[in-house]
Amino acid sequence: MVHAIRGSVVTFKANPFALPVSECLTYEEDAIIVMDGGIITAFGPASEIQSTLSKDIHVTRYNDSLIMPGFIDCHVHYPQTEIIGAYGKQLLDWLNKYTFVAEQAFRDKEHASEVARVFLRECLRAGTTTATVFCTVDPTSVDAFFEKSQKLNMRNIAGKVLMDRNAPQALTDTPQSGYDQTKELIARWHGNGRQLYCVTPRFAPTSTPEQMEMTGAVWQEHPGTYLQSHVSENKGEIEWVKELYPDCNGYLDVYDRYGQLGPRAIHGHGVHLTEDEFQVLHDTGTAISHCPTSNLFLGSGLFSLETAMKSERPIRVGLATDLGAGTNFSQLVTMNEAYKVAQMSGYSLSAPHAFYLATRGAANALYLDDKIGSIEVGMEADITVLDLNATPVLEYRMKYARDIDEMLFVLMTLGDDRTARATYVAGELLYSRNPHITNEQFTKSLTTD
Ligand code: GUN
Ligand code: ZN
Repeated sequence: MVHAIRGSVVTFKANPFALPVSECLTYEEDAIIVMDGGIITAFGPASEIQSTLSKDIHVTRYNDSLIMPGFIDCHVHYPQTEIIGAYGKQLLDWLNKYTFVAEQAFRDKEHASEVARVFLRECLRAGTTTATVFCTVDPTSVDAFFEKSQKLNMRNIAGKVLMDRNAPQALTDTPQSGYDQTKELIARWHGNGRQLYCVTPRFAPTSTPEQMEMTGAVWQEHPGTYLQSHVSENKGEIEWVKELYPDCNGYLDVYDRYGQLGPRAIHGHGVHLTEDEFQVLHDTGTAISHCPTSNLFLGSGLFSLETAMKSERPIRVGLATDLGAGTNFSQLVTMNEAYKVAQMSGYSLSAPHAFYLATRGAANALYLDDKIGSIEVGMEADITVLDLNATPVLEYRMKYARDIDEMLFVLMTLGDDRTARATYVAGELLYSRNPHITNEQFTKSLTTD
């Protein structure tokens, strides 16, 4: 089915961390995007595209909005949807007290399917069209997730968690069972429609060296699949990794020793990485997912985007929510917190840079920038529409925005899930915010009796 939408469009054609923003950001004030068969088939100024459209194509107009690529969340735990906002603990205690309790329920397919449904609904409500997702140790949790994702025709990346120590018995596998289950799941899901498989060792402390060995092996045996884990998130965790892997030269080196770095490996956090470790990430093409709301919530520390992006040895970085340690589905809220985290070390993240990290930059971190993350002819048609008047204060503040940079910065400062007006996945409208009382109507109701 052909769909066409019209309005202001923002997208990136290159990396603003490497080139001047003016050479990277495309802002088309009145554009038309045509989507057919899940792909963007035309994009350009409305004055050029309109006349090429056949008369029977309806063009949906989005006024007072910004149309942009769907957001990409590079690291998130769907089973933790039910424990967002769990009070008072830092990483290792938080895992034991909340996470490892919640994750045990995912052996039950019905429960897993229901949580997957809520999780994906919330992604779409926030304008997120792709996520790199941790399931639980139980293969059922992976089937439940991919079945829902497949129905929505979303391009998601997910996998079974591998854990064979330092976790409750009910949440552990063995090196062999983890390997076998991963292989089976890859055969079932990787490249099935838009689904992509991610080999998922939870983090070095919950896998024995034997499991790490087999994890690296199964990933290497399946080119094109992903690998995700956590690295250098919390100081106590880093000390623990030193004790558990005394022969390794630091935390990142554990993943290096076991063949878990390289293109399509994406490790979460990297808050306390050393310069040598950044160099290894650069050299191997390994990505880091930056999870500012989580790092603040768990008191983990401040990731240095400025260090990560050093022009001599930049690394691939994508923005991520890391729910349920992260606190919001919205990548706008995540950008807001990324800005503040950067500010704390004297680096002011600009709006174009922040939006890049949640769209084309995230796609680049995932080696998917030829498919998603920008609005271009031939790209998959995953698109989000942001409402510039979503809340009264946003509407008011926007009146004073002088240019597109300021509009974007206001969106990431004041925006959240309410800002997403419509979300298209593979060219189909999957989410459209309910018609709501306009700000004008609301104000009238206050001032008339
Ligand atoms: N490290 C290992 N597991 C987890 C998790 O579930 N969340 C976070 N934030 N860090 C982890
Ligand atoms: Zn995580």
